[in-house]
Amino acid sequence: MSFSIEKDKGYAVPVARIGVIGGGQLGLMLARASQRLGCSCVILDPLSDSPAAQAAGQQIVGGYSDPDKVRELAESCDIITFELEDLDVKPLLELEKEGVAIQPTPRVLATVQDKLTQKTFLRDAGIPTSNFIETPHPDEQVFADFGYPLVQKARRGGYDGRGVCVMKTAADYEKNLPVASLIEKFVEAEKEISVLVARNPDGECKAYPVVEMVFVEGQNVLDVLLAPARINDGIAAEAQQLGIKTVEALEGVGIFGVEMFLTKDGRLLVNEVAPRTHNSGHQSIEANVTDQFEQHVRAILNMPLGETEQLSPAAMVNLLGEPGFEGRPVIRGMNETLAIAGVSVHLYGKAVTKPYRKMGHVTVLDKDIQKALDKAEEVKQAFAIEGEHRL
Ligand SMILES: Nc1ncnc2c1ncn2[C@@H]1O[C@H](COP(=O)(O)OP(=O)(O)O)[C@@H](O)[C@H]1O
Ligand SMILES: [Mg+2]
Repeated sequence: MSFSIEKDKGYAVPVARIGVIGGGQLGLMLARASQRLGCSCVILDPLSDSPAAQAAGQQIVGGYSDPDKVRELAESCDIITFELEDLDVKPLLELEKEGVAIQPTPRVLATVQDKLTQKTFLRDAGIPTSNFIETPHPDEQVFADFGYPLVQKARRGGYDGRGVCVMKTAADYEKNLPVASLIEKFVEAEKEISVLVARNPDGECKAYPVVEMVFVEGQNVLDVLLAPARINDGIAAEAQQLGIKTVEALEGVGIFGVEMFLTKDGRLLVNEVAPRTHNSGHQSIEANVTDQFEQHVRAILNMPLGETEQLSPAAMVNLLGEPGFEGRPVIRGMNETLAIAGVSVHLYGKAVTKPYRKMGHVTVLDKDIQKALDKAEEVKQAFAIEGEHRL
C-alpha cells in the first residue's frame, strides 16, 4: 500500500507524519528536509536524544526491530521509512499487511539488506556485477577453487567496510569472517563511483549526477567525495542509466544509493545498493537544486521529484572520530575550517565520539573541482574530533 493524499482537497498540515526507523545523521537530515515540506517526523531509536530526534523533537526509544516499538511508531504516523537497512523485516511485513504505508517496501528491504539476495537479484535482473558464489561457512578449499584475489562479504550486518574482507592471495584466508557470506571476484577498479536514484510510486525516476569516492587505505571508509565525478560524459550517462535500471528493476520507492566500480578496462559494475539516503549524497544539500533528503520525502509521499541538477562542483569529507579518543567530543580546527571559502560544516550532535565514528561532514563548494578537492584536503588537515578520554 502506498501513502496517498487527497491532493485536490489540499494538504492539511502536517502534510504527513513520517516515522523514521533509525536516529542517526541520515535521520537527522531527513527530519530537517521533512519539516521544510510541512511534514513532521517521529524517530525510533534505542538511544534517547538521538541526532535525528534532536531535529524531529519526537522519539520513541526502542530497538529498530522491536515489534511493539515498530507498531507504536506505525500508530503515531502516516508512513514509515528507515535510515538503515539492518533491521528485521518481519514486523514491517505484518504492519504492511494491515495497511500501514512503508517505503521502501519491506520486500525491497529484504532483497537488499542481505548481500547474497541482493547480488542474486542484480545478476538475475541482468545488471552487471562481479561474479560471486554463496559461502554458508568459510572454506579454504572453496575459496581457493573460486580463485584469488576475492572479497568475502558477510550476508548481513556489515557497514562502512565492516563485514567485508579483501583477500589478495591464499595467505589472506586466515583473515576470513566466520559467518554466512558470499565471495566475489576482486574488481580492479579505476574509480569507485555512486549514483543516487529516486523513484516515486507513480514510477517517476530521476538520477543525480555521478559522484566519485576516494577511500582511506585499509579502512574502507569514505575519505573524500567529489561531485561530479571526473569521468567522461558517456560513462557518466551510462552510470546514471545503470542506476535507474537497478532501482526500476527493484521497483524501489524512495532514494537509493547505487555504488559502482568503473573498472580499469572501462566497464561499469554495480557493487551494492543502499535502500536509503547515502553518504555519497550529503553534498547535495548545498550543491544541488534538490537535496537527497528532500528528494526521499518527495518520493515516498508520491510528490513530483525535484530537479537533481548540480549548481556547483563540490567535495565532501566525513568528520570521523580521531583514533585514540572517546567520550564527549572535543572539536579542533573549527575556525581554521570555517575560514576556508565555500565551506559548510555539519555536526551531527552525537554525544560520544569513538575512533572512526561518523561525527559530521564538511562540504566544500568551488567552481573549480580541483580547488574544491584541495580545500577538502585542507579541511582534513585542520579539523579533528577528539574526545574527552584518551584510549
Ligand atoms: N569486489 C570488490 N572488488 C574490489 N573492492 C571491493 C569489492 N567489494 C568491495 N570492495 C571494497 O570494499 C568497500 C566496502 O564494500 P561494500 O560492499 O561497499 O560494503 P559496505 O556495506 O561496508 O559499504 C567498497 O567500497 C570497496 O572499496
Ligand atoms: Mg558500500
